[in-house]
Amino acid sequence: MTRMINDQITPNNGDWAVEANGLVKVFGDNRAVDGVDLKVRAGSIYGVLGPNGAGKTTTISMLATLLRPDAGSARIFGHDVVKESHIVRQLIGVTGQYASVDESLSATENLIIFSRLLGLGRAESKRKAADLLEEFGLTEAAKRPLKNFSGGMRRRLDLAASLISQPPLIFLDEPTTGLDPRTRSQMWDTIRRLVKTGSTVLLTTQYLDEADQLADRIAVIDRGKVVAEGTVDELKMSVGNSSLHLRVLNPGQIELARRTIDQVLGVHSSVSSEAAKITAPMADADRVTDLLIALRAADIPLSEISVQKPTLDEVFLTITGHGVQGDTTNASSSKELEEAKV
Ligand SMILES: Nc1ncnc2c1ncn2[C@@H]1O[C@H](COP(=O)(O)OP(=O)(O)OP(=O)(O)O)[C@@H](O)[C@H]1O
Ligand SMILES: [Mg+2]
Repeated sequence: MTRMINDQITPNNGDWAVEANGLVKVFGDNRAVDGVDLKVRAGSIYGVLGPNGAGKTTTISMLATLLRPDAGSARIFGHDVVKESHIVRQLIGVTGQYASVDESLSATENLIIFSRLLGLGRAESKRKAADLLEEFGLTEAAKRPLKNFSGGMRRRLDLAASLISQPPLIFLDEPTTGLDPRTRSQMWDTIRRLVKTGSTVLLTTQYLDEADQLADRIAVIDRGKVVAEGTVDELKMSVGNSSLHLRVLNPGQIELARRTIDQVLGVHSSVSSEAAKITAPMADADRVTDLLIALRAADIPLSEISVQKPTLDEVFLTITGHGVQGDTTNASSSKELEEAKV
């Protein structure tokens, strides 16, 4: 049952902000979203991670009632996105939905108009606009017309506009893509603060480190399907905390180097065809010392070595097995993540 308090519709399901079952969206013969299940606990930050074209935006659009699912169902705080879309719309905020802001008006004017449309008084609208512009580092640009804004500034104004009435559930579609590092970490702080003050956030990202910084749980989607779901730690355990990249001086020693790596690290390394680079997951970057000693003992000189955080590419390679032939490690780590599903 929906309760009405001061004209505000409140969530009627305390536990789950999002429950999606078997969501499907087909464009022509392209199954852009192909049976997606998602469960987002109220009060958490949930990350949907995936490469270009994976179906992230399409999934969010269905949850936000902007697109009608072709199959499956979804509930937002217990309300069906199709049958109760009018209620759902009052429980959510979506960045990007204010793309039709007036280009000739200033940032302040745009925010005041949105506040007024949402029913805030004149003085409160003004105060809210000033506060939000300050929070998003836009105070200096407040009087400039929007048509002179950079892409990053628009993105920040977008998020500011969606926060005028802080909704219980906020969808952020790639909130930090194209932002400079300082603005990016400001955005992260803002997102954390939103959750501290009672909102739930579902964000999409192509960046593993962003999901790592923010999300309590992550769904990895690939070609319209959830290929892994779990906490950040579970995801990382499946790919190793670090990733080793190595080239040997003498190409004839590649196989020997691989065997040494596999033995010392207890993993399956792989060789990329271009430039004969060996890559391997590492549970612990510190193990590189043991490896270097073993390579020296085997008389294998190196031309290059680095230990890095796993990239999204590597996570994908590990989880989906794309491009990795007969790698049993990969199959089992994917299964572990599956088992971590709730
Ligand atoms: N309105 C549309 N009409 C036809 N095809 C679409 C439409 N919207 C999306 N698609 C297709 O659906 C697939 C998923 O697109 P979607 O925008 O959901 O991906 P995404 O994960 O958000 O990617 P990105 O990281 O590039 O934003 C893509 O193949 C895309 O071309
Ligand atoms: Mg997208």
